[in-house]
Amino acid sequence: MSDQTEVRAADYGLPMYFDMQAKMGHTKHLGGTNATQKLAELCKLEPGKTLLNVGSGSGISAAYVAENFGCRVVGVDLLPGMIESAQRWAEAKGLTDQMAFRIGDAQDLPFEDDQFDALICESVNAFVPDKEKAMHEYIRVVKPGGYIGFTEAIWGKVPSEEIVGIIGEATGQQLHFPEVWETLFQNSGLVDLHNENHPVTMRGEARNQSGLVGFGDYMKILGRFFRLLFSDRETRSLMKYMSSNPKQYTEYMGYGIYSGRKPE
Ligand SMILES: C[S@@+](CC[C@H](N)C(=O)[O-])C[C@H]1O[C@@H](n2cnc3c(N)ncnc32)[C@H](O)[C@@H]1O
Repeated sequence: MSDQTEVRAADYGLPMYFDMQAKMGHTKHLGGTNATQKLAELCKLEPGKTLLNVGSGSGISAAYVAENFGCRVVGVDLLPGMIESAQRWAEAKGLTDQMAFRIGDAQDLPFEDDQFDALICESVNAFVPDKEKAMHEYIRVVKPGGYIGFTEAIWGKVPSEEIVGIIGEATGQQLHFPEVWETLFQNSGLVDLHNENHPVTMRGEARNQSGLVGFGDYMKILGRFFRLLFSDRETRSLMKYMSSNPKQYTEYMGYGIYSGRKPE
């Protein structure tokens, strides 16, 4: 293991389970393929276009977009372990010619102005402290006329204080109501705004998530998960907490899809 993987998510104020996910090679966002497919369509992705995927995590949905929409994908993530994991996934999928990954912060992107045809973030901005600054960066690096799209976990119905605490603890993020994301887009100067919100159900999520990872890969990820569970006490206590009552909090959660276009 390289020195880079010793950097911990907590060093960046990010949830501990990101370390586990980087080792497993599996991150996800609510809405899975459904959300990714919709974002790719809203952002008019197609062969010849270059996409920046901010907070690309394990690279699974970045690879899905590269494979299914034929565009070139650059992924950027704050955590070195995520970048390594995404590079491994791109290699395994034979997509290294079409994809590249590098370390970077959404609030200070390591790219020149007007570089990308589109930019997407899937379940990332809830973890970013200064959302306005990040939005400013997204608009800066996208070409005039290019698209920006987010999918974010949201409150699907008004939670009690207890539920806010449980979900905050289990997911490492403070969920927002859709208006927070809608307002961010409305104040950004982007045009042709689109937003839609979806409830989540356990069954619907299982279907959406399975679209991103085939059976063989899923078994490999599961194998890595069980190896971690046996070898790492932190992972064990985390999983005990997270699996204590998922049904109870799923009914409060949803996901939103938001997009806009940078004026010409
Ligand atoms: C919930 S995961 C989603 C990963 C991926 N988009 C997916 O759908 O599988 C959130 C990702 O955002 C990354 N992240 C969080 N804050 C970030 C920031 N300020 N800049 C870049 N990446 C960030 C995390 O390291 C993590 O990989």
